[in-house]
Amino acid sequence: METPVTIVILAAGLGTRMKSRRAKVLHEAGGRTLVEHVVRTSLQVTPPERIYVVVGHQADQVRATLAPCGVGFVHQPEQKGTGHALIAAREALSGLDGLLVILYGDGPLLTVPTLRRLIEAGKNSDAAGTILTSIMPDPFGYGRVIRDAKGEVRRVVEQKVGTPEELAIKEANMGLYCYHARPFWAHIGEIQPNNPAREYYLTDMVEILTAAGCKMQTMVLEDPQEVLGINDRVELAMVDRLLRERKARQLMLDGVTIEKPETVSIDSDVEIGIDTVIEPFVQIRGRTKIGDDCRIGACSVINESELGDQVEVGPFTIINKSKLEREVHAGPYSRLRFDNYVEEGAHIGNFVELKKTRLGAGSKAMHLAYLGDSIIGRNVNIGAGTITCNYDGKTKSQTKIGDDAFVGSNSTLVAPMEIGPGAYLGAGSVVTDPVPADALALGRSRQLIKEGWARQRREKSQ
Ligand code: UD1
Ligand code: CA
Repeated sequence: METPVTIVILAAGLGTRMKSRRAKVLHEAGGRTLVEHVVRTSLQVTPPERIYVVVGHQADQVRATLAPCGVGFVHQPEQKGTGHALIAAREALSGLDGLLVILYGDGPLLTVPTLRRLIEAGKNSDAAGTILTSIMPDPFGYGRVIRDAKGEVRRVVEQKVGTPEELAIKEANMGLYCYHARPFWAHIGEIQPNNPAREYYLTDMVEILTAAGCKMQTMVLEDPQEVLGINDRVELAMVDRLLRERKARQLMLDGVTIEKPETVSIDSDVEIGIDTVIEPFVQIRGRTKIGDDCRIGACSVINESELGDQVEVGPFTIINKSKLEREVHAGPYSRLRFDNYVEEGAHIGNFVELKKTRLGAGSKAMHLAYLGDSIIGRNVNIGAGTITCNYDGKTKSQTKIGDDAFVGSNSTLVAPMEIGPGAYLGAGSVVTDPVPADALALGRSRQLIKEGWARQRREKSQ
C-alpha cells in the first residue's frame, strides 16, 4: 500500500523585513500569493485533507486565500519558533500516520520533482527523518548539519548559537524535512526553548531523535535556488522573476511562441493554446485563458479574460475581465475595461473603449468610440467617434442596437436608447428617441450654404 503523506506548511510568521502590513506569505510572486504556490505544489503529491497550513499573522486572510484549495489549518497565535509551530499542529496531525513533510509558506520556488525526491528519500530509508540540505560556499544564516566521526547526522546547529568550528561546516539545513510521523510525534514534546532567543527550534528534533537511537539522514540538493525563502522585497522581486521565467519556458515547451521571453510577464495560472504568438512586453495576468493560433500584440495587458482561438490582439491593447470569442480582432490601442463579451469575428479598433458591452458576431467598431452598458447585435457598424451616453450624472442606462444597424460617424446615443435592426444613423447625429427598425435617423442641424461668402470676405479684408 502507498505510504500516506501529510504535509504541514509553516506560514504563521509576519516577516518583519518585508516592512509590510501584510503577512509575508500573502505577498505575491508570479501572480499568486507565496503560500498558494507551496499549497499547489503540495496538492500534486497528496490530497488536500492531508495538507495543513500553520497560520498566525493575518490568519483569516491566509485562510480565505487558500479556501478554494480545500486544505486544513492549524492556528499558532503566538510564534515561538519553528518547533513551536509543530507543537501547535500536534493535536490535529499526530493521528495521521505515514510520512510527515514540513515545508515553508515563504518558499514558492519548490518544484514537484524535488518534493517527490524528498518523499521518496524519506520513504525508502530506515532513517526517522530526512533533512533537505545543500552544500553552500557561504551558508551564513542557515543551520549547519553536524555529523559524528562515522559521518552520521547528529544535530543541526543554528547560526546564532554555533561555535566557529560548527559554523565552518558548509552543509546547510534548507528547513524542509520528511519525517516518519510516528517517531516525530512521539518526541515533539521534548523540544525546549534552550537558547538565547527562547524559541522552540524545530532543528532540535534532529538531536532528540538521534539521542533516542533513531537514524537521521540528509538529501543534498544540488541547486539550493529552488528552496530560497523570501525575506525582503528584493528577494520577492527575484523570486517573481524566476517564477515568470519558469512559466514562459513551460509555455514555450508546450507549443506557445514567445518573442523575447525575458520581456513578458505571465502569471502562473495563465493557460495558452498551441501556436499562439506572444509579442514582446506583453503582460498576461490572473486566470486568463487564451486559445490556439492567437497573436497577442506587443505591450498588451490581459487580465482575468478568456480569448478563443485565432484571436488577434494588436499592440498596446488592454483587456480586463472580458470574453472574446474566436477570430475576434482587438487593437491596436483598444481598451476593454470589464464585463465585455465580444462575439465571434467582431473587430474593435484603435482608441475604442468597451465597458459592460456585448458586441455581436461580425460587428465592427474600428475607431475612437465609447460603448458602455450596451447590447449590440450582429454585423453592426459603429462609426468612428460614436459615443454611448450611458450616464446622466445619477444613473447608468443601457443602449441596445439591433442586427445590421449602421451607426454613422460621430453619433451620440443618449441612453436609454434602442436602435432597431437594420436602422441607419446619419453621421454626427445626437439621438435621444428610439429609432425603429430599418429607419433613417438624423439628429443634427441642416447644412447651410452661402454662395460666394468666403470670396467676398477675402476681398473685403484686402
Ligand atoms: C530555519 C531553520 C534553519 C534553516 C532555515 C532555512 C529553525 C530553528 N531553523 O531558520 O536551520 O537553515 O530555516 O531557511 O528551524 N514560522 C512559523 N511559526 C513560528 C516560526 C516560524 O510559522 O513560530 C514559519 C515562518 O513564517 C517561516 C518559517 O516558519 O515561513 C521559517 O521560520 P524562520 O524563523 O524564518 O526560520 P529561519 O530562522 O529561517
Ligand atoms: Ca527564513
